[in-house]
Amino acid sequence: MSIKSICCIGAGYVGGPTMAVIAKKCPQIKVTVVDINEKRIAAWNDPDVDNIPVYEPGLGEIVADARDKNLFFSTDVDRAIDEAEMIFISVNTPTKTYGEGKGQAADLKWIELCARQIAKVAKGDKIVVEKSTLPVRTASTLKDILTHTGNGLNFQILSNPEFLAEGTAVEDLLDPDRVLIGGEQSPEGEKAIQALVDIYAQWVSRDKILTTNVWSSELSKLTANAYLAQRVSSINALSELCEHTEADINEVARAIGADSRIGPKFLKASVGFGGSCFQKDILNLVYISRSYGLNEVADYWEQVIIMNDHQKRRFAKKIIRTLYNTVSGKKITFLGWAFKKDTNDTRESAAIYVADHLLNEQSSLSVYDPKVTEEQVFTDLDYLDTRSPEENRKALKVIKDPYKACENSHAVAILTEWDEFKDYDWQRIYDSMLKPAHIFDGRNLLDKEALRKIGFQVHAIGTAD
Ligand code: UDX
Ligand code: ADP
Repeated sequence: MSIKSICCIGAGYVGGPTMAVIAKKCPQIKVTVVDINEKRIAAWNDPDVDNIPVYEPGLGEIVADARDKNLFFSTDVDRAIDEAEMIFISVNTPTKTYGEGKGQAADLKWIELCARQIAKVAKGDKIVVEKSTLPVRTASTLKDILTHTGNGLNFQILSNPEFLAEGTAVEDLLDPDRVLIGGEQSPEGEKAIQALVDIYAQWVSRDKILTTNVWSSELSKLTANAYLAQRVSSINALSELCEHTEADINEVARAIGADSRIGPKFLKASVGFGGSCFQKDILNLVYISRSYGLNEVADYWEQVIIMNDHQKRRFAKKIIRTLYNTVSGKKITFLGWAFKKDTNDTRESAAIYVADHLLNEQSSLSVYDPKVTEEQVFTDLDYLDTRSPEENRKALKVIKDPYKACENSHAVAILTEWDEFKDYDWQRIYDSMLKPAHIFDGRNLLDKEALRKIGFQVHAIGTAD
């Protein structure tokens, strides 16, 4: 079966870029991305592609190329569902903030709503593809809802987890390490799997397209993220040891990464991992393990999160300790707010938690990030509900010019590894700061020796400074 029409529910970080690339690579398929958020859809349709809601290098060009040819963004969810032979579900699945599983399990409210809507609207058989990260066995929930509330139609559920990383989403989609497709082990299931394989095969070589049963596919997504996060927590655990032993974490990372079995990637010590996936997926893994009574398995993975929380807290505490045990009334400048470079996404960014800790100590903060808006910074802080919105706006200022942001501050802290920070005129920044001028490099980004020559006191993650 060759698919002619696709609908994607959810025009977010996953749905938007993924569908743009499918549309570009498969000009014969009509791709419609729908969302209930009108503002978001309007932004995807903005004639100026600089205003699309997701910032990803290369994405604007692809959207400009395919939009209104075979790529459409719309709020008419029912119509898009009705027209499509294949429906991707790409809605948010945040960690539950209430009830059973609060703080750990994924909230599947939006997924369920999608399934009910598909069941209500569909007039013909559909292939439904899970794209959002989901707990293992969600496919059976989907199948249940679709078959019991649908009009006696045949729904095939596929799991096709997304492995794109933000900032390199387009690259990852165009040239993925692998594409994973899980489906039912039945003739109809095989047919549905093949239909999706044929789409990806238009630009991905067949040996990189892995097919499995649905449960393996769902679990692989959680596991891949858990493994990656575990590497970051492992190197971060060692970074603390380095700070006490005069070993240098960068040298240790280089030495262990040279072992081809370990490999050099994902060994960068940092102020802590962030992003929408790592924490959520591990919490999910922990929750599922515990629900099967597998407490040792759950504790093992939970430690990755415990270590990450410790790293963020440790960074804030180090700033306070170094500034003579008080930051009250002192101005500290954050360079970076996004959870990593080349994205405007701030979900679970370490910066939020470090800022919260310092604000609790009555520090005054000034924040500069090349891509994150002032509105977003305050949304993140207000969400924590530690202080009133007025208090947050009084204690923290978002400044659009990095040099102005650093003026008269006691310390500069690097929270995101934006390349542009390396090229700043650090002498000028030093001259404008209060002395002694401190730099807390939470990303091991800057040239420590050059900064020390200027006169800075440099404190980097994982070195005994
Ligand atoms: C991740 C996975 O990489 C991707 O495959 C999955 O689909 C979604 O989750 P993403 O969250 O976009 O992607 O970012 P990633 O590049 O993995 O980084 C996650 C966090 O770990 C960032 O805060 C990053 O700064 C941090 N990190 C990463 C480190 O601190 N050190 C490293 O060596 C690597
Ligand atoms: P992700 O990072 O997983 O892509 P986002 O939060 O960026 O998550 O995007 C998810 C999108 O899904 C949001 O824009 C949200 O408005 C949309 N969404 C959630 N539920 C529905 C629904 N029932 N119908 C249409 N869109 C939905």
